[in-house]
Amino acid sequence: MLRTHTCGELRLDHVGQTVTLTGWVQRTRDAGGISWIVLRDRYGLTQLVLEEGVESAEVREQARQLGREFVLSVTGKVAERYSKNDKMPTGDIEIRVAKLDVLNPAKLPPFLIEDETDGGDDLRMKYRYLDLRRNPVRQNLMLRHKMAQAVRRYLDGQEFIEVETPVLIKSTPEGARDFVVPSRMNPGEFYALPQSPQTFKQLLMVSGFDRYFQIVKCFRDEDLRADRQPEFTQIDCEMAFVEQEDILNTFEGLVQYLFQEVKGVDIGTLPRMTYADAMRQYGNDKPDTRFDMRFVELSDVVQGQGFPVFDAAELVVGINAITCAHYTRKQLDELTDFVKKPQVGATGLVYARVDSDGNVKSSVDKFYSQQELQKWSVALGANPGDLLLLLAGPADKTRKALSELRLEMGQRLGLRDKNSFSPLWVVDFPLLEYLEEEGRYFAMHHPFTSPKPEDMALLDNPDTIGQVRANAYDMVINGVEVGGGSIRIHDRAVQARMFSLLGFSDEEAQAQFGFLLDAFEYGAPPHGGLAFGFDRLCSLFGGADSIRDFIAFPKNNSGRDVMIDSPSQISAAQLKELSIETKVAEKK
Ligand code: AMO
Repeated sequence: MLRTHTCGELRLDHVGQTVTLTGWVQRTRDAGGISWIVLRDRYGLTQLVLEEGVESAEVREQARQLGREFVLSVTGKVAERYSKNDKMPTGDIEIRVAKLDVLNPAKLPPFLIEDETDGGDDLRMKYRYLDLRRNPVRQNLMLRHKMAQAVRRYLDGQEFIEVETPVLIKSTPEGARDFVVPSRMNPGEFYALPQSPQTFKQLLMVSGFDRYFQIVKCFRDEDLRADRQPEFTQIDCEMAFVEQEDILNTFEGLVQYLFQEVKGVDIGTLPRMTYADAMRQYGNDKPDTRFDMRFVELSDVVQGQGFPVFDAAELVVGINAITCAHYTRKQLDELTDFVKKPQVGATGLVYARVDSDGNVKSSVDKFYSQQELQKWSVALGANPGDLLLLLAGPADKTRKALSELRLEMGQRLGLRDKNSFSPLWVVDFPLLEYLEEEGRYFAMHHPFTSPKPEDMALLDNPDTIGQVRANAYDMVINGVEVGGGSIRIHDRAVQARMFSLLGFSDEEAQAQFGFLLDAFEYGAPPHGGLAFGFDRLCSLFGGADSIRDFIAFPKNNSGRDVMIDSPSQISAAQLKELSIETKVAEKK
């Protein structure tokens, strides 16, 4: 190594030793007769000192030429510092510089390489390699590394085998949009990048691997959000000869282990909630259970009193925003505007304040007597000082809107603390969901998910198909879906039936998934598994909302890597070689 120690290592014990450090110039300070340089590497910061009459004039002159981010090698004696800095782990010492080599000068960086930087998002993305020098960003990646190591330790300890599956696979019509790659050797044909290794891990079960995992890149061409990237990483797992209970226990164990190892937190046993309860009580299949504020259905309580909006509604449902009766008219108008946003979708908000004497005053007082309003208060379990918020309309839409309002109120009330963790399993998802615009059923998880055996008979009747539940589950932490999976179909006939329910003809099913159907005829064991979103898990552990900060080189919101400037056009010659008509390129 070009160094004897790192910049985070030296303490009073080292005083008197001659050391060589390497790193980047964090900052320099010149007070005339004495100057300081703070040198930085991955491990920390160390102060270097150069004093007139002590260090040589030549080295002092060299130091004067330095700029921020120059790469140095510095040799000198460790000395006790006159004025110590207790904020720096190396703050008791400094290096009296005897020799200084500039290993590489640096241009002035376009933003400050400090914990708090002056660089905007775009600039930091363009110079991501500089952003990665900053402590908070580097720490996120170190957390990711620690998590990955802990995942491997736990799963290896449980007999899971890490197997790599291919990245050039086949496009399939289910799921999100595929990224495709043209094949030069097969003109006019395309590979697809995997949205997940789903079918491969099932085939590994057919092959007898019994327990598989992979920390694996997945690719989905979907609209991006804070918790979605076009390429992201899964901890992908599959087990054979198991029931749902085995899978839940094994991966609950993994998450408990991660919390213990990485955060020193004991999260205890994960509660379980059915999908139906999650939707009824939180209006959301990924409820944020850090706070209560559960939904109370109020149709029976509020209807029949002549208020047309409530009387005409399929569902009237409310929450109790505790301690919020003091909300001003302006704040209530803000909440009304919030629920009316197109993304939230409600037509209006009815509120009622419970005053200090327990009297209820609502925004629709002319339709309701005090006696009636008291019923609202009782139903919502309200106390003096609470604010009742009610929405009405079509059931699904209203629940969805109230879920957004609940989260907003949780945020306003400071109930969504990033340092508290509330994990749970959501179980018993519906097998299928009907998409009006497509006019057909879609697999809610994926087409390989097994119906619950006790619900199989419901598949025979078009009126009850939508009620069939699946052996499918999600792990949710703080309102984030961190993972999901299912028990799979392992019987060819059931799988063929499933494809048919999803609108595939036998020929289409054979063409798309023949390899899997065929494999099921050669001794497929019962199996199931799940995949965690690794980036999401890391950002949750790191207390951040966006997964971007936990990916070394992420894409921006338009799916671009602005550092390498990708995607980019390719030459006409390349297109020709790939048998892609050049018109595509010219059009742009
Ligand atoms: P699913 O599609 O639910 O299941 O994905 C599993 C987990 O991956 C994460 N995730 C994402 N993270 C970041 N960016 C994205 N675009 C993105 N999409 C998904 C989520 C999600 O819970 N093969 C099945 C798993 C199985 O059945 O075993 C699958 O991929 O945290």
